[in-house]
Amino acid sequence: MSVIKQFRAREILDSRGRPSVRAVCELEGSIKASASVPSGASTGRAEARELRDGDPRRYGGFGCRNAVAHVNGTIHAATQGKSFANQAEFDRFLIALDGTTDKSRLGANAILACSVSFARASASETGVELWHHFSGMANICPNALPRLTINLLSGGKHAGQQVAIQDVLIVPAISATIDESLLMTYDVYQAAAGLILKRYGMRLLRADEGGLGPPCRTPEEMIEVALEAIRLAGYKEGSEFVLALDVAASHFHTRDGYALGSDVLSSQEMVERIRQWVEVYPIVSIEDGLAEDDWAAWPILLTRIGRRSLVVGDDLLCTDPVLIERAIRERCCNALLLKVNQVGTLTEAAEACSIARSSGWQIALSVRSGETEDDWAADLAVGWGANQFKNGSITQSERLAKYNRLLEIEEQTGFPVTQICSSREPIIEPTQRSL
Ligand code: PGA
Ligand code: ZN
Repeated sequence: MSVIKQFRAREILDSRGRPSVRAVCELEGSIKASASVPSGASTGRAEARELRDGDPRRYGGFGCRNAVAHVNGTIHAATQGKSFANQAEFDRFLIALDGTTDKSRLGANAILACSVSFARASASETGVELWHHFSGMANICPNALPRLTINLLSGGKHAGQQVAIQDVLIVPAISATIDESLLMTYDVYQAAAGLILKRYGMRLLRADEGGLGPPCRTPEEMIEVALEAIRLAGYKEGSEFVLALDVAASHFHTRDGYALGSDVLSSQEMVERIRQWVEVYPIVSIEDGLAEDDWAAWPILLTRIGRRSLVVGDDLLCTDPVLIERAIRERCCNALLLKVNQVGTLTEAAEACSIARSSGWQIALSVRSGETEDDWAADLAVGWGANQFKNGSITQSERLAKYNRLLEIEEQTGFPVTQICSSREPIIEPTQRSL
């Protein structure tokens, strides 16, 4: 039972130099904990709404003073002196206080900062590690750490749109520890940086999540660069390292189709292109291979590649339990990209996670492209037993805060890194379905 003494918030800057919100939750008994929240750039339409001030004279309209004022005013006043039995009770109270379906009145940024700072304060009140507290909240008994999927090369909205697809991620596939995974990744990152300098004459210019943004002309060229870097670093592609793609297809889907370089592909052709990638390259996960409004084509993609690759929904699902249930019914995906700020409270994200998992889906817990130095996402990935953790590259402190926290949890728990999930079975030719 936690009794709230006060909530305070302030505007801070995220890794893009844009405002975000940090809240401090103080409980009776002098327990205080803070939490900072991230922000996306390649957002799905159904995401909960961050409250931005919209004043063009401050941070181009991105200011968060109104969100901060809601924490210091409405949320503080409504919760002061109140006791909450658990996280769900607290989060439901905030949801009702906001009163909108998309959290646009108080702001999803204000609400999430309060939700997570309350969780941290409660963990500290009961004297347990945050990951342990998260696992109790979701009724999960974790015994492994998530496998890392690390952003090596970026295009799309995270870099200069030089190539349509958003991220090529490398996955250290056989490492038993986070420590070893990071070491292997360092080798490949250095090899990729050298290769890109030599081939494209490009110095280390980093995309939003710390990935490299070489001027590749096609997705295939970008994938080949990643594979070459793996080989140059002395690792075997397909066994020691595999790949994951975040296609982020919503962001190059037009009325005419998928604008992939000089091609404009129909949904059927896009599915076929992805099938070829998965067949030719050691890819174990495809995120947002299709656009968020192309629901009819997703089941075809799943049929085509689902036996050997994860079909991950990000923009399609926005961590929204209702959309996830639809995707389960219509057989669209076999994995959920879980981003807590897409839905706005820990309780709703836990519900999304549990719905997806009970249908046999894998869970990839992801941070955002605009992040802060806060590390709670690492605790969440462990506590909720995520299969994968998608945290950007291994440069930049907002990413390293989370990797470094994983190293600490690894030391505390001795948990091994979970086995890679895809079986890479041969693609079974599906029965044709028309769109
Ligand atoms: P975002 O993108 O954080 O910029 O929205 C990340 C992703 O698409 O996975
Ligand atoms: Zn994505």
